[in-house]
Amino acid sequence: MIEIPVDLGRRSYTIAIGHGLLASLPDLLSSFAGRRFAIVSNRRVFSLHGARLEKALRRLGPVEHVLIRDGERYKTMATLVEVLDGLLAAGLDRQGVVVAFGGGVVGDVAGFAAATYMRGVALIQIPTTLLAMVDSSVGGKVGVNHPRAKNLIGAFHQPQAVVIDPGVLETLPPREMRSGAYEILKCGILGDRALFRAVREAPHQLVGWERVAVEGAIAAACRIKAEIVEKDERDDGLRRGLNLGHTLGHALEAVTGYRRFTHGEAVGWGLIGAGWIAKEKGLLAEAAFDAISAAVDRLGPRPRVSSVPSARVLQAVGRDKKARAGKVTFVLPTAIGRVALRPDVTPAEIRRALRVMAAREARMT
Ligand code: NAD
Ligand code: GLY
Repeated sequence: MIEIPVDLGRRSYTIAIGHGLLASLPDLLSSFAGRRFAIVSNRRVFSLHGARLEKALRRLGPVEHVLIRDGERYKTMATLVEVLDGLLAAGLDRQGVVVAFGGGVVGDVAGFAAATYMRGVALIQIPTTLLAMVDSSVGGKVGVNHPRAKNLIGAFHQPQAVVIDPGVLETLPPREMRSGAYEILKCGILGDRALFRAVREAPHQLVGWERVAVEGAIAAACRIKAEIVEKDERDDGLRRGLNLGHTLGHALEAVTGYRRFTHGEAVGWGLIGAGWIAKEKGLLAEAAFDAISAAVDRLGPRPRVSSVPSARVLQAVGRDKKARAGKVTFVLPTAIGRVALRPDVTPAEIRRALRVMAAREARMT
């Protein structure tokens, strides 16, 4: 088992990573013994892995479950209310523990419910997608989408434990696996050259990616995220680096109604776009840009960007949640393992980056 501490004073916790950890939950979570647990999940994940989780948690205390509908379009206030109703029906009191068991959608909604139910109850994140393992389960950002903007309504609510059992990834569709890998690649580009190389050298489209390598990549990405969150829990500066590839990525997701791209695929495109803008500005060497785009492409095909109107992408970039005084700060790579925050990216540069991204479509296999 790999253990990664997240040092946040009174809100500190540990990320535990290891194949088969679901079975070890009674030991790992022994400090929660005697409390009531409410698992929040969706039907798909719960039918695949819920029985094992319930069995393990029952050794610690009474267990109920609340299931939400599957998909980003259900990451809404309506679903939040359903979860809060479910927690009430489950008899959860202030000592109760919400266990988020699913991908990032479940983690964000369940986490927001834990943040708001009775003004805040304990949260344990047990992520089941690669993306949730390396990103959304760590760091305490929880929330739901507003019809006009992603993640607009939310809170910071740190989990009290994160337990990652990569064994559950055996049922994850390959496209979702690749989606998480784009986020791991992002971590490599922003702060870990060895991690970047590890993802670049992973098998094409991750087919047959070795168990040990997957575990190592998850741990490396979690270490980077933990380190950044420890220094900037409330996203005032440094944490914005985690948004590498997300400014264009979020815009692509929004313009296509959150249906065409998985989050990771949109970030994959965004990494190429940010890399190209950095190269154009003379911040990133051409060879480093080539290495970044080749590594993104190697992970596999992504839905097309050429048919996405650039005017709408520009509008969506302008609505970015992280815009301050109308200015959007881009995270741009300056080397493999280093990024800079730049408020001076122009609409013309974004339009040209979109053209470069569209031209790369032909290279994807
Ligand atoms: P997701 O939660 O929609 O999961 C993807 C699909 O995989 C779903 O259909 C889900 O049911 C299925 N699934 C989950 N685990 C499975 C398993 N083990 N086997 C088979 N199927 C499984 O998507 P995601 O990519 O995990 O998360 C995306 C969400 O995370 C977005 O809403 C994004 O905004 C959010 N996010 C949040 C943060 C944060 O810091 N809070 C960071 C990154 C992303
Ligand atoms: N996923 C971005 C963050 O946690 O800040």
